[in-house]
Amino acid sequence: MNFDIRDISLAPYGHQKIEWVRDHMPLLRSLEEEFKETKPFEGVKISLSVHLEAKTAYLCKVFAAGGAQMSITGSNILSTQDDVCAALVEDGLSVFAYHDATMEEYERHIEMCLECKPNIIIDDGCDLVTCLHEKRPDLAVDAWGGCEETTTGIIRLRALDKAGLLKFPMMAVNDADMKHLFDNRYGTGQSTWDSIMRNTNLIIAGKTVVVAGYGWCSRGIAMRAQFLGAQVIVTEIDPVKAIEAKMDGFRVMPMKDAAPLGDIFCTATGCNKTINTDHMLTMKNGAILTNSGHFNCEVDMEGLYGIALERVPRRHNVEGFKLPNGKWVDVIADGRLVNIAGADGHPAEIMDMSFAVQAYGALYIKEHKDELPKHLIKIPEEMDKMIASRRLQAWGIEIDTLTEEQEAYLNSWKL
Ligand SMILES: NC(=O)c1ccc[n+]([C@@H]2O[C@H](COP(=O)([O-])OP(=O)(O)OC[C@H]3O[C@@H](n4cnc5c(N)ncnc54)[C@H](O)[C@@H]3O)[C@@H](O)[C@H]2O)c1
Repeated sequence: MNFDIRDISLAPYGHQKIEWVRDHMPLLRSLEEEFKETKPFEGVKISLSVHLEAKTAYLCKVFAAGGAQMSITGSNILSTQDDVCAALVEDGLSVFAYHDATMEEYERHIEMCLECKPNIIIDDGCDLVTCLHEKRPDLAVDAWGGCEETTTGIIRLRALDKAGLLKFPMMAVNDADMKHLFDNRYGTGQSTWDSIMRNTNLIIAGKTVVVAGYGWCSRGIAMRAQFLGAQVIVTEIDPVKAIEAKMDGFRVMPMKDAAPLGDIFCTATGCNKTINTDHMLTMKNGAILTNSGHFNCEVDMEGLYGIALERVPRRHNVEGFKLPNGKWVDVIADGRLVNIAGADGHPAEIMDMSFAVQAYGALYIKEHKDELPKHLIKIPEEMDKMIASRRLQAWGIEIDTLTEEQEAYLNSWKL
């Protein structure tokens, strides 16, 4: 075993946190039981880079229960939780990550995580895969394939695939219904506001909230802001999404018009400079800027560092920046994905579904490794439906099934 973590003495609280989420993740619990018996990953090396908090730690333990040799790192310098890392190391897993690492340390950890020459890669944002393609192709020799967790990772993989350079098949976990319909929408929706509220201790009701984007994450964020009593403005670049936002009851306008109106801003577009310094200069004094997209470029933090006359810590996870016009803006978690870098990420029940897709996706890679093309691959529809049925079963919810007569009716073109 090999590791590079902050402090092993933090393990007891890490174990408690993992135990808590385990109680709320019935799909992973049943997979853990099954994997203990069947050991589907015996001798399989898995490198994983996912936001390293308790739910991810539990996924790692489930893979390990199935016999996998785990090599683990985080996927963002602020989302890694040191107590959780310590607990995993105490359980005998290899972990290379700590909270608030420098970008150089983060990149070193990505490479250390790949040193095992993985058979399967579990990625969140495509950093492992990018490293294997750009910097360390020598470590890709045993790779059968992998699974990608998030929209931004899929965008990067699609570009790699289109260029004809993808060295192994990658399953688009994010695009499974059982992932983005719930994780991106309800998970990001709830946890973004959990983070903004716990980090600011301010009321949301009555405030003007500007949500950039009306995709899966951003519509969840907008919907939850509305439930909390905010007046919500949505910005978009896609005319169809903009109409959806309007029909859902939101004001829609460009960011340049929304910037002077907002009290709280949240981006989840996957696009850089969604909020740029020109926008910031028109904002109200005390405007709060947050981002829930994968990378910290959606709010132009580099630009803000460049124009800011002063930077002061305001609260835990909140930094104030004085602009050249004398006004201040407050940024939560340095513009990194606010729900994970400033809080604990998605609720456990949500990650139970997302990580079930990851676990079955990894199994699929293992079982079909000789026949899969070296492309970005969709999660099979039957897998999505099977996971949904298992989740309903865990809730004790039954649904109807078609009668033979109904099935015949639905398959007929005659009146
Ligand atoms: N914080 C989290 O926990 C979490 C969870 C899942 C995904 N993500 C990340 O959130 C981001 C969004 O993911 P998604 O699944 O919602 O993607 P999506 O493609 O469903 O939605 C993005 C939306 O943003 C719009 N958009 C793009 N550029 C824009 C711009 N400059 N201004 C306004 N709108 C713009 C697009 O038209 C689209 O509707 C990605 O980076 C993804 O990786 C974060």
